[in-house]
Amino acid sequence: MDREVLRARIFEAGVPANPLAGRPVASIEDPVAQLGRDLFFTKALGGDYDAACATCHHPALGGGDALSLPIGVHALHPDVLGPGRLHRMGWPGYDGGPTVPRNAPTTFNLVLLDAVLFHDGRIESLVPHAGAHGAGPEGIRTPDVPFGTADPAAGNTLASAQARFPVTSAEEMRGFDFEAGQGTDVVREHLACRLGDYGVGANELPAPRWESRFRQVFDRLTEPVEEVVTFDFVAEAIARYELSQVFLDSPFQRFVEGDDDALSDAALRGAELFFTPRSAGGAGCADCHNGPALTDERFHVLAVPQIGRGKGDGLDGRHDFGRARVTNLGADQFAFRTPSLLNVAVTGPYGHDGAYENLEAMVRHHLDPAAAVAAYGEHLPSQPGIQTDGWEERTQMILERVSLPPLDLDDDEVADLLAFLEALTDPCVEDRACLAPWIPDPDAPDPDGFRLDAIDPEGNPL
Ligand code: HEC
Ligand code: HEC
Repeated sequence: MDREVLRARIFEAGVPANPLAGRPVASIEDPVAQLGRDLFFTKALGGDYDAACATCHHPALGGGDALSLPIGVHALHPDVLGPGRLHRMGWPGYDGGPTVPRNAPTTFNLVLLDAVLFHDGRIESLVPHAGAHGAGPEGIRTPDVPFGTADPAAGNTLASAQARFPVTSAEEMRGFDFEAGQGTDVVREHLACRLGDYGVGANELPAPRWESRFRQVFDRLTEPVEEVVTFDFVAEAIARYELSQVFLDSPFQRFVEGDDDALSDAALRGAELFFTPRSAGGAGCADCHNGPALTDERFHVLAVPQIGRGKGDGLDGRHDFGRARVTNLGADQFAFRTPSLLNVAVTGPYGHDGAYENLEAMVRHHLDPAAAVAAYGEHLPSQPGIQTDGWEERTQMILERVSLPPLDLDDDEVADLLAFLEALTDPCVEDRACLAPWIPDPDAPDPDGFRLDAIDPEGNPL
């Protein structure tokens, strides 16, 4: 296909030449973003001081954790990330495997999302405005408020709204004893007190050093500490950091901007398949993977095998009803958000529950979900203790609802699609030196004694 024709088709799919235009992008040079980075990396935001945001969203692991399903609190070694991270035996909620029921999505390029966050979209712009990342007069809905209403505490962006929630989840960060039985705001308030070393959180940190930084970056030099180190500011700073994680400089982006030589021949053929509708002989991927992040930010039933401990849905509690958990609509049952595909080569495992470790297997699942489910036994994740019992029965009943008819692609075409997906990688995300500004320097002073300086199972720094 002629390169100009392909480019026109890409633009038709809503991929802009300049995806960042008008968006609330931040710079990692911004002191608020740097404060946010250090908050993102502190285990002091975990109730039991053992889990940070970066535990599951480390830049050196593609903005995720490289696990099918996360282990948040009560890890055997809290600072070990990636394959080899294990849960400690015999703690609440432990069943031998990972305690978090969904795969951790990347935080990279979050600024390109406008409508929803989470696999079920439970953080959502009530009226999405293109390019606004949730900002707008109508506000943002969160799990703290009824469906269809705005959360007055959400802040200005989807990122700031989201950052209020992981600290309230027992399995992710909170633990099972911290403010047990109390509501989400009590948890946040206590954590803010801990960081600011005041009120109920006084004397909880061995070396509290946050207050003066909050004062400087938010320009609150004289206010009482309760108005300075607040959870609203914590969420705002973390959001600013996340909105600085722009990793877009891929061969695909250079092609979109007009560089005819940016893509290999295989990647060009793959792009053509990706952006050409099935009715015109293509693979129709852009029916759902469209727009600046290659997601329609809508929900579809793909019947990715349901593994893990589930979200407590269905008779056995091991199902995850997906979008229907939010809307209560039967038609949304088992539907999950179309994920972004930017940097997809480094963001595995794939699917809402990390069912596929292998990118090719994930792509092939789309071509014939029933056949893929029948053969899934060969692709079970390698993560120790992962709950795979009963996946077949659970997934069979979901297959009936899949709306993707089978598509016949030969092996060369699948290889071309994979070459295209590889071309969505910004080389920075595979280059530790390039990522350094987004990871706290282990030689810099630790802001509270609980900084996560992550290591792999062999003890090498990430
Ligand atoms: C124990 C692992 C874990 C920790 C710790 C954690 N997350 Fe996550 N994160 C997840 C999982 C799992 C999801 C998806 C949950 C879902 O869809 O229900 C997620 C989703 C997200 C998303 C939405 C991304 C998207 O594309 O929808 C953002 C943003 C995010 N987390 C940021 C954070 C921040 C900020 C913190 C710290 C305050 C944090 N996370 C702590 C596991 C974790
Ligand atoms: C009907 C909408 C739809 C179409 C068409 C579609 N996808 Fe998807 N895709 C999804 C949804 C929804 C998911 C997430 C499923 C889940 O989480 O269980 C997904 C997941 C993926 C993932 C995993 C990403 C991750 O981070 O987990 C890849 C890779 C992918 N799709 C590639 C493709 C390719 C290549 C095509 C074309 C052959 C395609 N998709 C066509 C909706 C679609």
